[in-house]
Amino acid sequence: MAKLVEGKRALIVGVANKRSIAWSIARALDENGASIALTYQNERVEKDVRKLSETLASPGPVVPLDVQDDAQMDASMAEVAAGLGGIDILVHAVAFARQEDLSGRLVDVSRDGFLLSMDISAYSLVALAGRVEPHMREAGGGSIMTLSYIAADRAMPGYTMMGVSKSALESVVRYLAWDLGEAGIRVNAISAGPVRTLAARGIPGFSDMADAIAARTPLRREITTDEVGAAGLFLASDLSSAVTGEAMFVDAGFHAMGL
Ligand SMILES: NC(=O)c1ccc[n+]([C@@H]2O[C@H](COP(=O)([O-])OP(=O)(O)OC[C@H]3O[C@@H](n4cnc5c(N)ncnc54)[C@H](O)[C@@H]3O)[C@@H](O)[C@H]2O)c1
Repeated sequence: MAKLVEGKRALIVGVANKRSIAWSIARALDENGASIALTYQNERVEKDVRKLSETLASPGPVVPLDVQDDAQMDASMAEVAAGLGGIDILVHAVAFARQEDLSGRLVDVSRDGFLLSMDISAYSLVALAGRVEPHMREAGGGSIMTLSYIAADRAMPGYTMMGVSKSALESVVRYLAWDLGEAGIRVNAISAGPVRTLAARGIPGFSDMADAIAARTPLRREITTDEVGAAGLFLASDLSSAVTGEAMFVDAGFHAMGL
């Protein structure tokens, strides 16, 4: 049987280590025939990301990319497009908020903290989509996906500023879907249930929250990163050719519950 993304070229932004959600999507795409370029935020994670890249069947360039650095984004996007021979798939799995802006009250968040979180967690998708657009147009279309959380829809204490940023991110997804749809470029979010990653460890009380959510979830369990990887593969492939502007829950059904 033909592989789902055979010959496609994917740029994956947001791998920090083997637990990263972005890595599970990278693996799923790699196993299904795509070539994979990875980025690293800084030298602290560069070595780990390079090592992970070496384990892929079709590794591409591994480049530095801090979403707050416009010049670096330009250079790295160009290097990836040249190295892969084009770009068909963009995975955006990047988010940040200061610790006090997650654990504290929203009314106490500073202008600085608000803008920092919105910049890294929501504007970054706009910045990357604009830079990948010409490459996807050249390819005759493409798939862009990002990672969200149910705190975009509902207030979840402990997630505070990130909830606000995820609401903005999901709105960005809808507007980008409209902007880029005429070029055959689809834009979606995966709204994942809690997964124990590096970023998750920064959320105060994350472990208790994950346990409580699992108990109130139709499937009565947590989700795995591999399950998010499979959803990413679906959104990257032609199986989802009519899906865009969507925030797709991969949360074992938690969003369907009222209590
Ligand atoms: N873990 C969960 O429970 C969960 C649930 C739903 C959604 N998400 C989302 O999934 C995405 C990936 O997070 P994860 O849980 O895999 O954790 P992770 O820590 O593995 O990934 C977060 C990534 O963001 C990157 N990043 C932060 N600031 C950056 C910057 N300025 N420039 C470039 N990269 C930057 C980090 O380097 C890291 O690779 C995030 O958007 C997160 O909000 C996570």
